[in-house]
Amino acid sequence: MKAGKSTIILFPFIIFFLIIQKNVFSQSVKTIEERVDSVLSLMTQTEKIGQLVQFSGGWDTGAQSTKPKTGSEELIAQGKIGSFLNIIGAETTKELQQIAIEKSRMKIPLIFGLDVIHGFRTTFPVPLAEASSWDPALVKKSARMQAIEASASGIHWTFNPMVDIARDPRWGRIVEGSGEDPFLGSAMAAARVKGYQGSDLSANNTIAACLKHFAGYGGAEGGRDYNTVDFSERTFRDVYLKPFKAGVDAGAATLMASFNEIGGVPSSSNQQLLTKILRDEWKFDGFVVSDWNSIGELIPHGVAKDLKQAGELALNAGLDMDMEASAYTKHLSELIAEGKVSMLTVDESVRRILRIKFRLGLFDDPYKYCDTDREKKTILTKEMREASLETAQKSIVLLKNENELLPIAKGEKKIAVIGPLGNSTIDPLGPWNQQGDAKQVVSVLQGIKNKLGINAEILFEEGCSIKGNEKDRFAKAVETANQADIVVLVLGESLDMSGEARSRATLDLPGVQEELAKEIHKTGKPIVAVIMNGRPLTITWLDEHVSSILETWFLGIEAGSAIADVLFGDVNPSGKLPVTFPRFVGQVPMYYNHKNSGRPYNPKDNYTSYYSDYSNSPLYPFGYGLSYAKFIYSNLKLSSKNISKIEPLKISVEVKNDGLYNGEEVVQLYIRDLVGSVTRPVKELKGFHKIFLTKGETKNVEFVLTEEDLKFYNLNMNFVSEPGMFKVFVGTNSAECLEDEFELMD
Ligand code: NOJ
Repeated sequence: MKAGKSTIILFPFIIFFLIIQKNVFSQSVKTIEERVDSVLSLMTQTEKIGQLVQFSGGWDTGAQSTKPKTGSEELIAQGKIGSFLNIIGAETTKELQQIAIEKSRMKIPLIFGLDVIHGFRTTFPVPLAEASSWDPALVKKSARMQAIEASASGIHWTFNPMVDIARDPRWGRIVEGSGEDPFLGSAMAAARVKGYQGSDLSANNTIAACLKHFAGYGGAEGGRDYNTVDFSERTFRDVYLKPFKAGVDAGAATLMASFNEIGGVPSSSNQQLLTKILRDEWKFDGFVVSDWNSIGELIPHGVAKDLKQAGELALNAGLDMDMEASAYTKHLSELIAEGKVSMLTVDESVRRILRIKFRLGLFDDPYKYCDTDREKKTILTKEMREASLETAQKSIVLLKNENELLPIAKGEKKIAVIGPLGNSTIDPLGPWNQQGDAKQVVSVLQGIKNKLGINAEILFEEGCSIKGNEKDRFAKAVETANQADIVVLVLGESLDMSGEARSRATLDLPGVQEELAKEIHKTGKPIVAVIMNGRPLTITWLDEHVSSILETWFLGIEAGSAIADVLFGDVNPSGKLPVTFPRFVGQVPMYYNHKNSGRPYNPKDNYTSYYSDYSNSPLYPFGYGLSYAKFIYSNLKLSSKNISKIEPLKISVEVKNDGLYNGEEVVQLYIRDLVGSVTRPVKELKGFHKIFLTKGETKNVEFVLTEEDLKFYNLNMNFVSEPGMFKVFVGTNSAECLEDEFELMD
């Protein structure tokens, strides 16, 4: 067919149109990788180094400054800073971002990071409390809400979740994580990453997550923060690395290198960890930030003679961003010139940081987190408070309830709230509470008052301070208790006793609180102990003497409301401990998934593994927590007694609510690999389901185990399953389970 006259006239226009289209089109479909490369190709060496540098707004770690240090503006304009931490506010971050976009040559947006650990302005329960909910969907929602609030205030990136396994409650940072177990820890890690990052990291209310502290930080010797860590590669991989891997698989954008060494190698110079495991094995393509001056600390660690060598070791190991050590700012140009750090290495680190800035959508709209109207509307809303309350209600663990003292019937009894934490509005905020405001906090006393109304007579006495030794107010507290029908004794730690650099050598209730409890106990009044704390405490005396105990950790701004809901039965407690409670500090480290040893404890044999002065058993085991309902387990069934590696094993159990209250129960599945090429733990959590049962209801709960669940690092350090016999345990906590066995065939 011949072309008509009109086609010939239109032809040049069509070609021109197609060329334009092609350019526009190719622009819009350029992948993030292509865009990263094109930015990188235009950058000078100084600008590249600038991207690897992070400075704090304040002078101290965790500071809550709103302004950068003097001189920062000039450095931003010169492209010498890529990131800030500890600067907040839609307006302030916008001013600084404007300098980067309008005054710096490459117009690369800054990324603002902050420790949003359990809330920004609306304080949620501390992470260890949230882990007690055993409810990943709830924890994901909490992280989502925190991201919505923080992002409205200019924050792009949180240094959370902390996914360090902690088996030693002396370590103050146990409060920031999800406890002692890699399976539960992995579920929480993934939930939090997904909550912070949402389904679209480029949305204006999602923030980048940072898995920390990579890695092994929770294994500090003696539970002393920052201390030496030394364990086998097998334990490291089977236990400590698991939640990190889960977080990376969930899409975490960044990781933070930890302060500690493992077996002589500090994390900030550990190439095996930061490159081989993280990038080569796990295919992580985001970036790694140092912890605060952790590059500088390579000097006192004794692996670098000066800051220059520290910078060389860190960058070559794969540590992309330097938080506050100034090693890269001061020495990287020199190191490049001397050939000690290659340009390829620098480019790769810059590429990783730019990639995350692109994924956050900052190149498309650097001011998307800087809307002051949105900031005002988003902070401390009713919806935020409700989400915090729901999370708090589900984080409470009922440890004891003798004679069903709880729930307390409303209006029937005269209540005395006693104890130094009874009316505290600061401590429920917990450590790392960011912009948390004590004025917004509902104390236990206030929560009870709100619940019972103005006509109820509620007495209150502190009795003593949290940490002090003075007993002069005991008498008044006893007198007050004597006037009541029931005592709610609110004891525990202050908010500053756990968290970073807050290790303790004892796990007792601080000060004279236990003595106060003993005096109140002498009144003969029924006592409900409400404990607030950032770690398991050795509350052995309380367990032996008071009727009911609620573990409430630090529950955030709605602490008192949530505690009152549980005390008076509007909420049936459903939390389970994510960490073992020892009876005595001398038992730690104490964790349920320990090895059997060659001489497991046998009361009839003296030469077995036990303490000659006290018991081996924990005060409360991992996974433990009571309910006002009564759950009965029966009919444990396995789909087969012999399974092949490709055949999943179905395990089912019947759970009946035989009590008088509707309630939630966390049904837990554990296994034990009986014989392996290396020793295996006596129990390992492999699944859990949180179910709701109305009174009288029975549910069949099913788990599926696959070969993947049976794998571990064997004698040759291969991650495999080994044929043989396995035990299966299903129950209400790690110590009370129904049991059966199956064989994994070759
Ligand atoms: C030190 C802490 O170890 C880390 O968790 C935190 O994110 C940084 N400081 C920044 O505040």
